[in-house]
Amino acid sequence: MSRILVVYASHYGQTRNIAEHIVERLRRQSHDVTLANADGAAKAPPPQAFDAVILGSRVEFGQHAPTILSYIREHRRALSAIPTGFYSVSMSAAASTRRDPNGYLVKTFGQLRWAPNESVAFGGGLPYTRYGWILRFVMKQLSRRDGHTTDTSRDHVFTDFAAVSTFADRIAALLGTRRGRTEPVRSTVVAH
Ligand SMILES: Cc1cc2nc3c(=O)[nH]c(=O)nc-3n(C[C@H](O)[C@H](O)[C@H](O)COP(=O)(O)O)c2cc1C
Repeated sequence: MSRILVVYASHYGQTRNIAEHIVERLRRQSHDVTLANADGAAKAPPPQAFDAVILGSRVEFGQHAPTILSYIREHRRALSAIPTGFYSVSMSAAASTRRDPNGYLVKTFGQLRWAPNESVAFGGGLPYTRYGWILRFVMKQLSRRDGHTTDTSRDHVFTDFAAVSTFADRIAALLGTRRGRTEPVRSTVVAH
């Protein structure tokens, strides 16, 4: 049994839903999993007490969540010593079969000068009924431009949860390996 930390940042819930799916998957494999909200009132625990850390972030306006980026900056050294995974949640990933649509992952890891062992982009959601009217209007225009659904009468989810399970399993498979600091950082992307 290993101790695994899952830290997520979500505004409309899809990144959290994915985090909860990962937690459930890993708990079924008898791991001791802690879920933390990077945007919550309580600070996410530091990586030192865990054998692996998974970070999940929404994408808004081309950016991953500042709180997730801060967590990585604050704990870069500790995160480089244990297996890590990063998942990105966006609408670009819903529409593309490319492994890193719009290059959000590569851009973020370049800015951070850090990369996880495994990274993946998952399709997110369009919860039209929960947007205020201005955001609903804006998201509908962007969706029309990008070829997503413009049916604002209901919410839409584009996450491939089988791919989420695969991602969780790939992190679990890394447990017990330690990333030496001199080891070159390798970042692989899980195909959808
Ligand atoms: C204000 C806003 C801005 C967004 N900007 C982008 C974007 O730049 N690129 C993209 O692919 N998706 C974008 N999206 C779609 C979100 O990434 C998607 O809805 C995701 O599921 C949000 O995660 P969350 O439900 O955990 O908040 C945006 C969504 C919102 C509400």
